[in-house]
Amino acid sequence: MNGFKSLYTRLAFGLILLLFVIGVLYTALNTIATQRFVAQLNQDLHRTLAQNLVADKNLVAQGKIDEAALKKTFQQYMVVNPSIEIYLLDLEGKLLSYSADPDVVMRSRVSLEPIKAFLSGVEKYPLGDDPRSHDKQKSFSVTEVPSGSAPEGYLYVVLRGEQYDALESMAFQGFWALAGLWSMALSLCVGLLAGLAIFYWLTKRLRRVSRRIEVFSESDFKSWSASEISDSSEDEIAQIEQIFEQMAARIQSQLAALIDKDKQRRQLVAQVSHDLRTPLASMLGYIESLKIKRNKLSAKEQEKFLEVAYRQGRRLGHMVDSLFELSSLEAKEIKPQLEPFVPLELLFDIRQKYAIRLREAGLSLEIEFDQQGAFAMGDVSLFERVLDNLIENAMVHAATSSQIMLRIESSAESIGVSVSNQGELINEKELSSLFDPFYRADSQSVDRRHAGLGLAISRQIMESLEGSILASNTVDGVIFTVYLPIA
Ligand SMILES: Nc1ncnc2c1ncn2[C@@H]1O[C@H](COP(=O)(O)OP(=O)(O)O)[C@@H](O)[C@H]1O
Ligand SMILES: [Mg+2]
Repeated sequence: MNGFKSLYTRLAFGLILLLFVIGVLYTALNTIATQRFVAQLNQDLHRTLAQNLVADKNLVAQGKIDEAALKKTFQQYMVVNPSIEIYLLDLEGKLLSYSADPDVVMRSRVSLEPIKAFLSGVEKYPLGDDPRSHDKQKSFSVTEVPSGSAPEGYLYVVLRGEQYDALESMAFQGFWALAGLWSMALSLCVGLLAGLAIFYWLTKRLRRVSRRIEVFSESDFKSWSASEISDSSEDEIAQIEQIFEQMAARIQSQLAALIDKDKQRRQLVAQVSHDLRTPLASMLGYIESLKIKRNKLSAKEQEKFLEVAYRQGRRLGHMVDSLFELSSLEAKEIKPQLEPFVPLELLFDIRQKYAIRLREAGLSLEIEFDQQGAFAMGDVSLFERVLDNLIENAMVHAATSSQIMLRIESSAESIGVSVSNQGELINEKELSSLFDPFYRADSQSVDRRHAGLGLAISRQIMESLEGSILASNTVDGVIFTVYLPIA
C-alpha cells in the first residue's frame, strides 16, 4: 500500500498535528492565565498602597498636598522599589508630577474610568493606563488626595514598572523552559508514541483484512484463506472480517453453482444437438433417396419414404416445441393463470379426449375419487399438459390390455391426482432422475422416439403452480402423483 495514503500514516500525521495544536494552545492559555493570576495577586497585595503612602509619608499637610514630601517619596521609591511608579494626577487625569524618569513617560494624561471603577469598588481588578506606554495597561492602586470632601487630584500608583516587567519576563522564560515546556513536551511525546503504537496495532488488523481481500480478488475469487487469528472482540474490524468471510463464502458457492450450471447447459446443448441430429439425418436421408432414385422406386416405396420423412419431421418439430416450452418455463416466461377449478371434471374431459387412442391401444382408463367437488388452485391448461404427459407415458409403458388408473385424493392442504399403470417397474435409484431433461430410464434407452423432456416439463409446470410431482413404484407398475394446493 502506498506509504502516504495508508490509513496508519494519515492517523499518525493527524495525531502529531493534534498534539502540536494542544501543546501550543495549552502553553498560550497557561501563560495568559498565569499572567492574569500574577497581576491580580499583585493588585490584591497592593490595593491600599496609594492610601498607605499618603498616610505614611505625610503627603497631605493641612488639607494640601505637601510637594516637598511628595518629591522625597518619588526619589525614595525610584531607588528602593522600582516595581512601582507613583504619579500625581489632577481631577481630569492629567499627569502633574511623577517618580519616573521624564524621558520614559509617554502620556500626559490617563483615563479616569478605571480609576473611578477602582475607587467605587465596581470592578475588583481594573487595569489602568500605563503612562510609560501609549497603549499598555497595568494594575494600579489609587487614592484621592487630599482625601475628604474636596479632593484636588489622585495619587496613582502603577504596579510593576518596566524594569520589573523585563526582569519578570526573563524569569518567566526560565520558568517555562524549566518546568512547563519540558514536562509538557515530554508528556506529548509519550502520548504521541503511545498513540502511534495503538494506531499501529489497530491498523495492523485492518491491513491483514485488506491483504486477505486483495489475495481473494487476485485469485479470481477462488482462494479465501480462513482467518488465522480468531478475534474474540466483537469490534467493527472483527465484524468487517466476519461479514467479508460470509461474502467470500457466498461468492465462492455462487461461482461454483454458476460453473455447475454452465456445465449442465453445455451438456444440454450437446444432448439437444445430438437428439435433433438423429431425426434430421433420417429425414434428410429419405428425402435424398427420393430425389436420387425417384424413377427406380415404386409408387408404394415412394409413399413409404415420404411417410417416414414426414414422421421424422414431425418428431423434430415436436422436440423443438418441447425444448422451447421447457426453456420458457425455466426462464419463468410462462406465467400461470391461477384460478380455482375442479380436477375431477378435468379428468372426465381428459378420458373423453383419449377414448379413441385408448381403444386402439387396447387399454382402459378408470377414474377414482374421494370427494366429488373438491376445488384446487391452479392453471387448468398447464395442469392438463402435465396429465397429458403422464397419461402418454403410462400408455407407452402399460402392459398389454391393462388398465390405467386416475385417482384423486384430497387432504386439508392439497389435492393429489395420480396416474398409475401396470408394467415394468422403474429402478429405485432412477426415480429421482426421471425429471431431469433428456433422462430416459435404461430399459427405454434404445428407443429414441421420445426425447425425455415430458417429465422435466411436468416438474417445471408443477413448480410454477406451487405444487409438486412424485414418482414411485407400485407392486405391479408405476405411479406418478401431482399435488396442487387446495382453493
Ligand atoms: N409410466 C412409466 N413407466 C415406466 N417408466 C416411465 C414411465 N413414465 C416415464 N418413465 C420413464 O421416464 C423417462 C422420462 O420420461 P419423459 O420425461 O416423459 O420422457 P419420454 O417420455 O420422452 O421418454 C422415460 O424415458 C421412461 O424411462
Ligand atoms: Mg413422455
